[in-house]
Amino acid sequence: MRKKAVLITGAAGEIGQALIDYLSAGNEYTLLTLDLQPLPERLDGRSTHIIGDILDQKLFARLVTEYEFDSIFHLAALLSSRSEFSPELAHQVNVNGTLTLLQLAADQSQQRGKSVRFMFPSSIAAYGLPDLATKQRDFNVREWDWNYPTTMYGCNKLYCEQLGSYYSQHYQQLADTTPVMLDFRSVRFPGLISAFTVPSGGTSDYGPEMLHAAAQGKSYRCFVREDSTIPFMAMPDAIVSLLRLWEAPRSALNRLVYNVTSFSLSATEFMAQVQHRFPQAEVTFAPDEHRQGIIDSWPAGLNDKQARQDWGWQPEYDVDRAFDDYLVPNIREMYQTGVNG
Ligand code: SER
Repeated sequence: MRKKAVLITGAAGEIGQALIDYLSAGNEYTLLTLDLQPLPERLDGRSTHIIGDILDQKLFARLVTEYEFDSIFHLAALLSSRSEFSPELAHQVNVNGTLTLLQLAADQSQQRGKSVRFMFPSSIAAYGLPDLATKQRDFNVREWDWNYPTTMYGCNKLYCEQLGSYYSQHYQQLADTTPVMLDFRSVRFPGLISAFTVPSGGTSDYGPEMLHAAAQGKSYRCFVREDSTIPFMAMPDAIVSLLRLWEAPRSALNRLVYNVTSFSLSATEFMAQVQHRFPQAEVTFAPDEHRQGIIDSWPAGLNDKQARQDWGWQPEYDVDRAFDDYLVPNIREMYQTGVNG
């Protein structure tokens, strides 16, 4: 008998660690986690963790003999800035890795006669606005606006959203019998801010980096201009949005890909929030032309009306609650006690 499990790829990343915390809390699910890296010690015992590569087909061939996956949270990816240094590697990981997982989920859906639920975090990077005037005018973009990404990561995310739609709606459409297809669901996240981890390789990283530097009494050189504005969200809301969409009845969903957001801030406004809580925080602005270009192409805000309508999405943390109730107390404690990761 194969064991029923929820598979989480990219489990050692920021979203992965937070998701494991939530999903393991009630002891309701058997979690199988996969990453190139080990999980931090504090997550010991919460999952069966495999150190491995999502491009390793043999590894998956072995895993499916042992496990039946009810759901897959496919989080593994190279983020936007990192991907610009090695675009072809990014394509391998972000697209071919996703394709492998989609195929696995498609096969398992057919074998067990029941859809595997496939959760996929997409991103504001799927958008590409042509100039700052348009970014200001179309402040909160809808899912179908400006789908012209300028980064390899953004192209990968947008294409994988399409692949997910294909696998869940049209897979093997010319076969004599219609197969049981997987159930693909995706959220487009804004920049995420965690109290416990610092992102690596993203372009929205200046927000969390500024905050974590301030909490450690370090000065910070911000790599974008003062006026740069993008949407952000506290990590608990990101996890709750993934879980709410995961739990929603299929019949309630009018889309496969949904925007979710919480608050939009310019880099100066972000700094003001940080300095309000850490008055000694020193921030200077030294824009990097290339990373600035990426941020300028991302929307200033997201219209998440459809998610609110279809599955009751509602962020718990607005900007003040995010800083006062979640980020600052946890970050202070973490750096005081030195418990990181
Ligand atoms: N935070 C991500 C990045 O900056 C966007 O999804 O790459």
